[in-house]
Amino acid sequence: MVYEGKTKIVEIKDGYAYLHFKDDITAGDGEKHDVMSGKGSMCAEITARLMRALKDRGIDNQFVEFTAPNVIKAIPLKMYPLEVVVRFKKAGSFIRRYGGVEGEEFAEPLVEFFVKDDERHDPMVCKKHLPILGIASLDDAEEMERQAKEIALALRDIFKEMGYDLWDMKFEFGKAEDGKILLGDEISPDTLRLRRSGEIFDKDVYRRNLGDPMAKYKEVLEQCRKHITL
Ligand code: TMP
Ligand code: ASP
Repeated sequence: MVYEGKTKIVEIKDGYAYLHFKDDITAGDGEKHDVMSGKGSMCAEITARLMRALKDRGIDNQFVEFTAPNVIKAIPLKMYPLEVVVRFKKAGSFIRRYGGVEGEEFAEPLVEFFVKDDERHDPMVCKKHLPILGIASLDDAEEMERQAKEIALALRDIFKEMGYDLWDMKFEFGKAEDGKILLGDEISPDTLRLRRSGEIFDKDVYRRNLGDPMAKYKEVLEQCRKHITL
């Protein structure tokens, strides 16, 4: 069985899911699209190392094994069609929606849910919408919210050790065969905002046409290699 998304192909084989990371980079729900050589392998390895680091801190997730250059072997999950965003600082769609100053810190991490639906531009929903839309029970939504906060705090520490400031990020969760909700998919400069003294190390470089995003992704990968053993 094979599913293809904008940046990954997921193959289910021998009881595992194999995430093949592609060289495609997109923004604006696929409106802007390019292929950048080496992008898939960098995002796969960054994801693998971060998932490993989370596991080392007792946070379970889908990751099983990294196979260079661009494949992650993972526990198969029934994915929720959701993007769970955690924000420490104001940026991106938060500012577009509510205003405010970029980089301003929230008193507490903010968790938001978005339904994955490119045609509707991934509408934001409340936890209470999820059972009504048949996407997740309220209990499952609360469990995702709890895990998202915990993972975000751990990632903020991990990146701090590398000298980066983690502003916000997006997670995707799924349910394993045993009923456990686990973090899945990807954690890479495609799915978070990473800053260091005003310098941008994430997909905003591409979204905002600020130069060569791959140079920034490469630096993040090198830092992950230095700080996290696979
Ligand atoms: P946003 O400010 O555009 O809502 O993005 C919040 C975070 O989620 C940011 O770190 C980028 C990430 N993100 C994705 O990974 N995929 C997406 O489709 C979007 C819109 C954001
Ligand atoms: N991931 C979304 C897209 O590919 C949007 C984004 O990350 O900005 O269009």
